Amino acid sequence: MILQIPSTSVPIQEIPIQKNVKLFIKREDLIHPQISGNKFWKLFYNINNYLEQNSKKPYLITFGGAYSNHISAVSAVGKQAGIPTLGIIRGEELADKWKYNPTLFFAFKNGMNLKFVTREEYRNKEKLSEFLQQEFPNALVVPEGGTNEGAVEGIKMMLNNQTKDFDYLCTAVGTGGTIAGISKFCEENQKVIGFKVVDDDSLENKIFGLTLKKNFNLIDSSFGGYGKIKDENIQFINDFKENYNIPLEPIYTGKMMQKVLELIDEGYFPENSKILCFHTGGLQGIEGANLLLEKQNRKLII
Ligand SMILES: Cc1ncc(COP(=O)(O)O)c(C=O)c1O
Repeated sequence: MILQIPSTSVPIQEIPIQKNVKLFIKREDLIHPQISGNKFWKLFYNINNYLEQNSKKPYLITFGGAYSNHISAVSAVGKQAGIPTLGIIRGEELADKWKYNPTLFFAFKNGMNLKFVTREEYRNKEKLSEFLQQEFPNALVVPEGGTNEGAVEGIKMMLNNQTKDFDYLCTAVGTGGTIAGISKFCEENQKVIGFKVVDDDSLENKIFGLTLKKNFNLIDSSFGGYGKIKDENIQFINDFKENYNIPLEPIYTGKMMQKVLELIDEGYFPENSKILCFHTGGLQGIEGANLLLEKQNRKLII
């Protein structure tokens, strides 16, 4: 097996907030240095099962944006397994400047072949995916963000005896696979909250289709839109790092934690609730974000 279950589970740390609820964070970001957080678990069955059945000429193909944590993780899997990978990247304008993008350069160093497509072509990625599968019948074509039924099964591994203790389970939501797995496999009495960083009305149905449970709520946490980083987000992430020595990134986990604390202040959670947030990794994105932010004299502490 290329992706192995670690012998020790990641820590659950308390965030000492002095409020009428208790807040904790489960550090899935510590699971693997390069295939971190939910990416590890979303790829776990997809990759292991595929490689078990396709020992001859395996090939991994996937999709993502310029700073995609998923592209970064799949390229690292390819390097670790010694198999070729192809990344279909949104934005043809990146074709002549990808070397200055830390995520894409990292993927390239891991041996990933990068193919840049227009936003229009990228929107039709389901068609593109079918086409690639026909052209490379033996390849594993992993959808954007890695979200599929295999991913949902893998997310089950983020839950254990310790996570059963919590009233609320919180995660950032992009393509929906992570929250679907938490919702599907958590305890009956637990409530799941998804912090949506993308404005996508189809997410609720998509997640329901994967979990078939109604135990989750989605809360808008986009702070102005996917990938938008406001001064208040930077301040929050930098303060969080300084106060608790836990790094967050600006696209998913930073926005989730900021919104969770806002909800706590607004009294959203009943008194004495125990809240668990999943740190889903993605810290590789900070370097790329800082290259953009530094031009505006802003910076995230790594
Ligand atoms: C760091 C991080 N957190 C959360 C998510 C959201 O996960 P999902 O796409 O399964 O909703 C992603 C995207 O994969 C991510 O990279």
